[in-house]
Amino acid sequence: MSLIYKDHKRNYIQREDLQIAEMREEDIEEVLSIENRCFKSPWNRTAFEQELCLDWSKILVARKCNEYHNTIVGYICLWVLLNEVHILNLATIPDFRRQGVATSLMNSCIEFSIHVGAKVLTLEVRKSNLSAISFYKNYGFEPEGIKPRYYSDNLEDAYVMWLTL
Ligand SMILES: CC(C)(COP(=O)(O)OP(=O)(O)OC[C@H]1O[C@@H](n2cnc3c(N)ncnc32)[C@H](O)[C@@H]1OP(=O)(O)O)[C@@H](O)C(=O)NCCC(=O)NCCS
Repeated sequence: MSLIYKDHKRNYIQREDLQIAEMREEDIEEVLSIENRCFKSPWNRTAFEQELCLDWSKILVARKCNEYHNTIVGYICLWVLLNEVHILNLATIPDFRRQGVATSLMNSCIEFSIHVGAKVLTLEVRKSNLSAISFYKNYGFEPEGIKPRYYSDNLEDAYVMWLTL
């Protein structure tokens, strides 16, 4: 695995109402609460603590500013693997969906991936997750293969999706 680029600026995008920043340890509680609301088999606290210690891992959070007092409304977790960036997780709180939160996170992820010299973005997504598949297709991700029975909770297949940068 290559070294992740750690010496980047902390804030990627500054919009009037949404700020994208690198996740810190004190954000774990908020991110865990999103994780628990969004996934059938959520990561636990230890998983996030371990993730924050990995050189090749990066988690970006989206904070809603103004009247929402910098509440975290979404996050994206990625790994830098040689010339590939792999997206492990992406989620937006249900109340804030269809407002461009995941779009801002993905824009920052792409900006970061280009910055570290990645040539491709990859991810796995449940075959039944039509909203996420639609979101990824909007970005030009293409289904490149299937991992049969990939998810251990219900043995659902995963699409492997790629975006060439
Ligand atoms: C997938 C997910 C991250 C999208 O987050 P979001 O913040 O609502 O996404 P955005 O508002 O940036 O959506 C951008 C575009 O993606 C597409 N999209 C997003 N959600 C969609 C849905 N439910 N159905 C169809 N298209 C959708 C639309 O084209 C949308 O643009 P539009 O709102 O102008 O039509 C969110 O639905 C989510 O958290 N799902 C649960 C967790 C999950 O499944 N994560 C993916 C794991 S692989």
